[in-house]
Amino acid sequence: MTTYTYGNTSKPSEALLLLVNEEQLQQLKQGTPIVGNALDQHILSLFDKEQFRAKANQVAVIATLGLMDENYLLLAGYNEEDGINGLRELFAAIAKQVKSLKLATLSLSLNKEHLASQLATQGTHQSVQAMIEGLQLALYERTIMKKEAQKFYNLQALNFVLNESQLANIATYEAAVTEAEHMIQSVKLARDLTNMSGNELTPERLAFYAEELANELELDIEVLDEWSLAEEQMGALLGVGQGSINPPRMIVIHYEGDPSSDEKWGLVGKGITFDTGGISLKPAANMEDMISDMGGAAAVLGAIRAIASMKLPVNVVVVVPTAENMPSDRALKPGDVITTMSGHTVEIINTDAEGRLVLADGMTTAIKRGATKLIDVATLTGAVLVALGTEATGAITNNEQLMQQVIAASAKSGERVWQLPAYAEYKKLIRSDVADLKNTGGRHGGTITGGLFVGHFAEDKPWVHLDIAGTAFLNSSRKWEPKGATGVMVRTIYQLISEKD
Ligand code: BES
Ligand code: MN
Ligand code: ZN
Repeated sequence: MTTYTYGNTSKPSEALLLLVNEEQLQQLKQGTPIVGNALDQHILSLFDKEQFRAKANQVAVIATLGLMDENYLLLAGYNEEDGINGLRELFAAIAKQVKSLKLATLSLSLNKEHLASQLATQGTHQSVQAMIEGLQLALYERTIMKKEAQKFYNLQALNFVLNESQLANIATYEAAVTEAEHMIQSVKLARDLTNMSGNELTPERLAFYAEELANELELDIEVLDEWSLAEEQMGALLGVGQGSINPPRMIVIHYEGDPSSDEKWGLVGKGITFDTGGISLKPAANMEDMISDMGGAAAVLGAIRAIASMKLPVNVVVVVPTAENMPSDRALKPGDVITTMSGHTVEIINTDAEGRLVLADGMTTAIKRGATKLIDVATLTGAVLVALGTEATGAITNNEQLMQQVIAASAKSGERVWQLPAYAEYKKLIRSDVADLKNTGGRHGGTITGGLFVGHFAEDKPWVHLDIAGTAFLNSSRKWEPKGATGVMVRTIYQLISEKD
């Protein structure tokens, strides 16, 4: 954990960070003192060679060799048009340098006139929050399965250097840091859960971690075991789970932040702790990445952590249907027909289309527990990678207004969401001759038919489906997202729910 301090000098820190825009750079080139000693000459030569042009995400590291109190001066390019999302991105780039220098302490100067006025106009709280989020989210390391996690890098102290009027407004800085830290810890929770191996994180263990979280947040939680699932007739979740020695669970967490309201968000997350495909077995290549098939569950657990710690005045029910999708002598088979909790029957065409099955019972559970509008998050289809690559989460809805709210939240969080059409014609593709629905609609439009299958169980409630199969788990790091689990959609859902009236 990092300690944050606020003052009018750069306390003895190992490095001083200055944000510079292109206009300022010109002034410095004209002879305005930079640090006001022999270093200025060196820095100017750096400018002359265009090593630093104050362009977006540019970070220059300058060793001060005893000419300043700090060992390093970091110059980072930041211009007006970069906005809030630009700040988050810039600080992710800064994090890479901070980590490679193994800095224990960093001073961040926000008191220079240009910057101070820009931050004030674009919103101090949002700006500071984005800086800290970008920095700390990018510093995350995948240590959850390592023996000596504490040996990895950690920034111990961050000191804000502020001017008089900024210091008079210190509560804003503190509130922004507090909110940022809640986001960071909530995203970290989602990433850590997703990065856990399949043998460590079984459905039972996921339920255990959810219980730990609920206790910490003082929230009510229900964990339904296989006998309770049978009592509640959750044939879809039981069907997916029946092939594994590790039994399925339905996790339900309740958050009541607005007792006067009848509105309740239902957040439903796909919790397949490992997806082998079942009898419709997946090929061996990259199957290890299927530890991330509970990324939707991780996202809604991270989101409720953020929502409850910030005490948002809303009601939420979080629902996580969790199972391990395995082939075995008792596993589901193609041709089987199952009965979901809602009573609708489903013909199994492909046992690898298991996410929509567990989500069906998840959606019905959320509605039964009072949800009036639904968001489901799932690593649902490989097809979303074909459509959007890893750049955006795919979305489907039955309610344009709710979709626009999600898109607006995503624009603020910097986590891209792209809507796909939900024409009635697509729905025909998942009609079955023998049951009410079949669990695949063929290769064409796979993300849409998968989403619409889940939407069938939204009944008449406003609903948005988020397919994070391309965005939840990456092969290489980018911006503030590490290689492996990203914790994507935690901040978008938090943003969505914090803005809803
Ligand atoms: N968990 C997978 C989807 C997935 C693929 C997530 C790649 C992350 C990366 C899902 O359960 C699945 O197997 N979907 C099938 C559906 C098909 C059988 C209709 C798919 O996408 O191939
Ligand atoms: Mn699958
Ligand atoms: Zn899956």
